[in-house]
Amino acid sequence: MNHPQKPQSPAYSRRSFLQTTSTLMGAAAIGGLSIERSAHAAGDDTLKLALIGCGGRGSGAADQALSTKFNIKLIAMADAFPDHLNSSLQGLKAKHKDKVAVSEDNKFLGFDAYKNAIALADVVILATPPGFRPIHFEEAVRQGKNIFMEKPVAIDAVGIRRVLAAAEAAKAKNLKIGVGLQRRHQPPYIETIKRLHDGQIGDIVAMRCYWNGATPWVHPREELQKQYGRELTEMEYQMRNWYYFNWLCGDHINEQHIHNLDVINWVKNGYPVSANGMGGVQVRKGKDYGEIFDHHAVEYEYADGSRCASQCRHQVNTWNSVSEAVVGTKGSCQVDRYTIRGENAWRYKSDDEKINPYQQEHDDLWAAIVNNTPYSEAERGAKSTMTSIMGRMATYSGKIVTWEEAMNSKLNLMPDTFTWDTIPKVLPGPDGMYPCAIPGKTVAL
Ligand SMILES: NC(=O)c1ccc[n+]([C@@H]2O[C@H](COP(=O)([O-])OP(=O)(O)OC[C@H]3O[C@@H](n4cnc5c(N)ncnc54)[C@H](O)[C@@H]3O)[C@@H](O)[C@H]2O)c1
Repeated sequence: MNHPQKPQSPAYSRRSFLQTTSTLMGAAAIGGLSIERSAHAAGDDTLKLALIGCGGRGSGAADQALSTKFNIKLIAMADAFPDHLNSSLQGLKAKHKDKVAVSEDNKFLGFDAYKNAIALADVVILATPPGFRPIHFEEAVRQGKNIFMEKPVAIDAVGIRRVLAAAEAAKAKNLKIGVGLQRRHQPPYIETIKRLHDGQIGDIVAMRCYWNGATPWVHPREELQKQYGRELTEMEYQMRNWYYFNWLCGDHINEQHIHNLDVINWVKNGYPVSANGMGGVQVRKGKDYGEIFDHHAVEYEYADGSRCASQCRHQVNTWNSVSEAVVGTKGSCQVDRYTIRGENAWRYKSDDEKINPYQQEHDDLWAAIVNNTPYSEAERGAKSTMTSIMGRMATYSGKIVTWEEAMNSKLNLMPDTFTWDTIPKVLPGPDGMYPCAIPGKTVAL
């Protein structure tokens, strides 16, 4: 089965902002000329945006980019599926009529769509399922574009290494890179963690973080076949249920819990040296739920010997908590409530608490692009993603996994090719059930 593809557009012949900006970067370095002034000097101050992955978050991120104070136009979109692209385009047009100018020729579909959309833009949003992120990030850096990419930035260590290498190349090209770990842009988190770094609770000796919630969307095969009136290839089925397959999602410890693990890494100013944990599929059983676990509990150890107890759970009718807390030698802090207890007791109080972090992260990134100030979140985004992947390696294997082992893992979960007829590496058994990891048996890294 094949989805209709647009003919390749002569995108590469268009003016590339980054070709201009790399010249201008030289000028900026010499003469202090900002991109904004340079762009004016070039006679065109509109920044061209392309959206790659037009689902919920990609559409949200494009909305936020277009809601900044800068002169931005969405001019290209790419998605695996036409229905996703079109409904995203409709929504964005309804909200930003004058800032959305995506011609039919600039709508790209399928697995190679990203290349064409990237070529047309000055800045790209990468918001597909995270399995594709290393490929798309690498290409956007190769083409010299500024980038906002959603978290997580990979699903295995092979992908992480690609992202880290591309991040270095991006720095050398003076590209601005934002990663969707929006708590890093939230004023109350920033102030709370600054206080922790200033020693307000002394040395931080114990941490915990949770993402315990309900279960996300699922699209049963029969429902999809009814909806589209045809059989789906296994590839299309998995793509439409990307959450439940590790090559696309990396399990929910990677997809959601990364936010909380990133906060702990931020508090600790570092990354864990090892992890051990347990998890499994206890409640969310059945052929609709792919191969991921419904719970993980991981203990991470940091270089100073302090430990972080992490939990993430997808089980309905259970206790929910999305939170981070830490204990120090002089007090404690409920980080997600911006509250310190102990001799320096304190609570964040400001209207800034209401600032939308999804908007703020775009305000910050686009200001850096326009003003040509350094902006590089790729390395820390990759290392926090690696933290969650290391947790999955620990729960799947049932063994202690060190950072070094995790980072050097050769396990490559991605398919070798991407077509609608590609056979993914994980397939259902005769009963329709996908194999899940078995601690003690599964090779998880
Ligand atoms: N920062 C946050 O708080 C936050 C919140 C939600 C989602 N996210 C992240 O955003 C990303 C997307 O999540 P979502 O909820 O928008 O998912 P989604 O399923 O709504 O959207 C993903 C889109 O990508 C498209 N796609 C898949 N493979 C593609 C490919 N190879 N090329 C082009 N398009 C492709 C899909 O068809 C879909 O339209 C994930 O990494 C997720 O973790 C972040």
